[in-house]
Amino acid sequence: MGKDVIIACDFDSAAQTLRFLERFSAAPRRPYVKIGMELYYAEGPQIVRQIKELGHPVFLDLKLHDIPTTVKKAMRVLSALEVDMCNLHAAGTGAMMEAALEGLTRPDGSRPLLLAVTQLTSTDQTAMERDLLIHEPMESVILHYAETARRAGLDGVVCSPLEAETVHARCGEEFLTVTPGVRFAGGDVGDQKRVTTPERAKALGSDYIVVGRPITQAPDPAAAYARCLSEFLS
Ligand code: C5P
Repeated sequence: MGKDVIIACDFDSAAQTLRFLERFSAAPRRPYVKIGMELYYAEGPQIVRQIKELGHPVFLDLKLHDIPTTVKKAMRVLSALEVDMCNLHAAGTGAMMEAALEGLTRPDGSRPLLLAVTQLTSTDQTAMERDLLIHEPMESVILHYAETARRAGLDGVVCSPLEAETVHARCGEEFLTVTPGVRFAGGDVGDQKRVTTPERAKALGSDYIVVGRPITQAPDPAAAYARCLSEFLS
């Protein structure tokens, strides 16, 4: 499975996103792009079609979580959009994840990659115990959710690069780890708490790194993307 850098296009309009992506029109290969809730809810499925038409692989990051039937039907719609990767919350249970896979699978047997969010990186041990009444250590919860996702047939999880190693040890090398929280050495951390460099994420076994502001807010986004690729892939 190919490793890659995914650019998180956290913009609130199609115009801004397409202007940003023009910077990569001369590149030998169109970058993998993540479309999140903000852009999708602002612009709808049309923005996915537009970005796909430009030749970018797309990770649609909508984190579905509902009853199995609803998720299955929603996944069928996302699959028809020809996205390459999408996700859901593992907290929806194994039954929901299995239903999601059914919905995603096209008549010819192909489907987008499906990943599970374990615990959001904004949730800490205190909030998990107080609000969710989960009293196990965070690491065991994450590994248990990853294992449930693997058993349901999913392709991997979204996690911190710092968890990539243990997830692979538990779920196998083929089970994908897609990891946000990446910064260049000495770069601005912003609101991320547990960050690593592209180089370190590679050493820890991340399969895909998701990079937003270090590329979107850089003075030269194409150069920042090229730096990410060279640190992560070489
Ligand atoms: O700008 P930055 O590199 O921090 O962007 C990271 C991206 O990954 C954002 O789109 C954020 O919503 C997403 N993300 C994250 N942590 C998670 C899941 C998704 O930072 N656990």
